[in-house]
Amino acid sequence: MASINKKRETIIVLDFGGQYAHLISKVIRNIGVYSEIIDPKKQENLKEFLENSTNNIKGIILSGGPKSVYENNAIMINKNILEKGIPLLGLCYGHQLIAHMANGKIGPAEKKEFGETEIIIDKQSKILNSIDKHTKVWMNHGDSILKLPNNYESIAHSANTPIAAFKHKKLPIYGMQWHPEVSHTKQGTKMISNFVLGICKCKRNWKINKFVQAAIMQIKNRVKESRCIVALSGGIDSSVATALVGKAISKNLTAVYVDTGLMRTGETEDIYAAFSDFGINLKIVYAGTRFFTALKGIKSPEQKRKIMGMEFIKIFEEEAKKEKADYLVQGTIYPDRVESGMAGNAAVIKRHHNVGGLPKKIKFKGIIEPLEDLYKDDVKKIAKELKLPEKIINRQPFPGPGLAVRIIGEVTPKKVAILQKADLIVREEIENAGIANRLWQYFAVLSDTYAVGIKGDNRAYGQVIAFRALNSRDAMTAKFAELPWSVIRRISIRITNEVNEITRVVYDTTDKPPGTIEWE
Ligand code: XMP
Repeated sequence: MASINKKRETIIVLDFGGQYAHLISKVIRNIGVYSEIIDPKKQENLKEFLENSTNNIKGIILSGGPKSVYENNAIMINKNILEKGIPLLGLCYGHQLIAHMANGKIGPAEKKEFGETEIIIDKQSKILNSIDKHTKVWMNHGDSILKLPNNYESIAHSANTPIAAFKHKKLPIYGMQWHPEVSHTKQGTKMISNFVLGICKCKRNWKINKFVQAAIMQIKNRVKESRCIVALSGGIDSSVATALVGKAISKNLTAVYVDTGLMRTGETEDIYAAFSDFGINLKIVYAGTRFFTALKGIKSPEQKRKIMGMEFIKIFEEEAKKEKADYLVQGTIYPDRVESGMAGNAAVIKRHHNVGGLPKKIKFKGIIEPLEDLYKDDVKKIAKELKLPEKIINRQPFPGPGLAVRIIGEVTPKKVAILQKADLIVREEIENAGIANRLWQYFAVLSDTYAVGIKGDNRAYGQVIAFRALNSRDAMTAKFAELPWSVIRRISIRITNEVNEITRVVYDTTDKPPGTIEWE
């Protein structure tokens, strides 16, 4: 779907491969201004953005990056960006790149700076307006600007970096060697808002509470009387996309939820409770038998994933055909677009996160992605505004292949039933202990190992179950959670007591890396 308002004031963040491009964009959005991340390697994207008169680009931030500007394969951009009169702010690599493009000199710093550093402001400037003369910033660089280009002047220094920030004498071009976007830079948000509000003169009109009404109007105008279909997984993104489009076109939307038979206890019921009164057509496809047949005899994790994905697509294709829908709704969010290199481009059918892809056989008139410009926390805010139940809003990430990747070896209905019981105990105990909201994920895994035990007065020979609880910010890395022993003990006792087939319970103490979050 096209952006809500292509003419809205936008700050572009050129992502030179630093870790923080999303953070810059997020800080700008929190200030109340819309921001987009662009990959500067895709010069045509950048050119298209700059030349497209429908985009109201108020300023460009050049992010940090891992390279030195004089390395062979360092990412460069066209120098004429310096002459367009658009306000520019370079951060770290971006700071050095601006100086480099304007014929300054960059080289290895005498002393590298990593971490919290004090800078001293030497000269008044709009970019450092109202910042304390001595302030703590976050540095992370091996190179420095050794000599500024003509018409540029230094405005701040640190003990090891004489040119820690600069400004152009006439044009709105600035650079900072440090990272104002990270929270360790004490007055970083003020620095960014100096650029965005003070220099670029943006109005603060990106507000998430205005989003819902605007999105509903736009969907109505686009879709008119046509029919739409959405694959509802129960994850927050597809749930919010469903709810938004549902508000716009109600019965002209069909949400297809596939119960693969590999869901956790209560999952399908929660979806039904959340969406059955939503005014849309909710179609729950019970496909357990189909999935178990397809998975029969399959032990390899990759094979399982592939089969689950293919089966899901087949089912969705069948349903889409029956519905004769013109539009496909997807819960794509902004980081999905950036990761798949689609930011700034027209909608493309993305690989569905939960499954292996989406229907190729069905030709849709268009794709509607109402969340395509949003970050996850914005999606959560909208979910609350749309009054989706807490269970959906706070749902843990759950893999598309479901419990199939939490059962080692062949997947059978019997093993699924065992795992569902144990998993419910893990969830109940963690939630009852009041620690659930501190954890990223917590779940049980059924191993294919057997162990001897005693149940009642008898020898028992049963299966080993593992459970996992993790802290993470983004699932890229994760640490196993140091759960209270009392919680671990209760989970263990309950599982061995209440799940007949289990004789042993182990707690998974593997971080990611070296482990992954899921076992398969
Ligand atoms: P791993 O196991 O790769 O998982 O460390 C990272 C995160 O992704 C979730 N996950 C999936 N999510 N479809 C999804 O939508 C999948 O196939 C899938 N596999 C793993 C996992 O639960 C964790 O949050």
